[in-house]
Amino acid sequence: MLLIKNGKIYLNGKFVNKNIIVNITSGKITGILNSLKSKKSEKNSSSNSYDKMDSYDKINAYDKIIDAKGLLVVPGFIDAHVHLRDPGLTYKEDFKSGSLAAANGGITHVIDMPNTKPPTTTKRRYDKKLKIAKRKSVVFVDLHMGTSKSNFDEIRKVKPNSLKIYMAETTGKLLVSDDKIIYRHFVNFDKNKIIVLHAEDQYYINKTKKRDKNSALIAIQRVNEMANKAGNRRIHIAHTTTEDEILLATARSRTTIEVAPHHLFLSERDRKKLGWDTRGKVYPPLRSEKERRNLWNAWDKINIIATDHAPHTAQDKENGSAGFPGLETSFSLLSTAYWKGKISLQSIIQKMSENPARLYGFNKEGKIKKGNYANLTFIDIKKEWKVHASEFFSKSKWSPFEGKKLKGKIIHTMVKGKMIKIEKS
Ligand code: NCD
Ligand code: ZN
Ligand code: ZN
Repeated sequence: MLLIKNGKIYLNGKFVNKNIIVNITSGKITGILNSLKSKKSEKNSSSNSYDKMDSYDKINAYDKIIDAKGLLVVPGFIDAHVHLRDPGLTYKEDFKSGSLAAANGGITHVIDMPNTKPPTTTKRRYDKKLKIAKRKSVVFVDLHMGTSKSNFDEIRKVKPNSLKIYMAETTGKLLVSDDKIIYRHFVNFDKNKIIVLHAEDQYYINKTKKRDKNSALIAIQRVNEMANKAGNRRIHIAHTTTEDEILLATARSRTTIEVAPHHLFLSERDRKKLGWDTRGKVYPPLRSEKERRNLWNAWDKINIIATDHAPHTAQDKENGSAGFPGLETSFSLLSTAYWKGKISLQSIIQKMSENPARLYGFNKEGKIKKGNYANLTFIDIKKEWKVHASEFFSKSKWSPFEGKKLKGKIIHTMVKGKMIKIEKS
């Protein structure tokens, strides 16, 4: 048994001083204790009584003790939108580097996007990718299955937990912009499981040569209507960028949304600074400073924070690849906003742990609770640090947040009772 003592534990929406007991073999939480007996009473008790569960309030009953003094202990973050680029694009990232980056950001479970090479659109590719993921990854990994114009049978064979539809061109070649095909996927796939949409309207983009907010609003309107017709199915809109998109999407009760940190913290101003068509390029694009500020008005309506971690090499960025790395900065950006009085810590944990677990049906994660996996994130909430992408575990050694001073740092990340990463000195 493992004891995690002296931490400030996130339990039922509050931070409380309690101790967590973990079964190292199963990797699950077996109990939460209020207090530990003093040293004195330990001495008086007989040593062979410790195998009884009710003796685990004695400190020397443990094989291992982790002292979390001064740290917050929260349920491991779940990032439902990452591109770990494995297989096929492993010069950008792979399951090893990407999952280490996740752990460095306090993330214990990721869901990988299908725009790899080859794309995850058949059973053979899906199984093969999952095998690689399990072999190389240090955190939990699940896969979104990709959609094409014709892969209905393959989806039926895999029965994935979630599907992804790209309604507009982005990294990879998984474009499904036609309503007829989108609708067919909506009808065929389990109505209570999530279909994730990259919701930008390709027809609008082609016509106007713009990729502005309207292209997102039009796409959201289309899929909300189709989802209603398709037996009121569940859908989820990836990387929404403005308050208006969120209001439109969530006006429908079976539509959920995510926001990526870069749309909360960066705007067109930064895009110009970073390089309009190079480092500042991401899909959907960064919006105006006004839209960015208004996005915070919708904070309470955001179901989940997902990084859309989209690593590219510096060279690929110079050549116009869209996407930012995000795994190693997401929590600290948000905790910095907490310190500025913008949002509560609780709301961050809800959007990074509790809600994604509930949305994706990970019923042994998202909460610190007896029977759940000991997937835990240890945070020094007062620690200040500066972003230096050269220190990232990700193969992406640049960041749009380079040099930014943040407050709140991940110190350890635990997956199934085992520490993944000890802070670099
Ligand atoms: C993503 C990528 O590079 O895979 N790029 C991006 O700009 N967000 C693809 C995507 O999420 O659309
Ligand atoms: Zn996308
Ligand atoms: Zn993405």
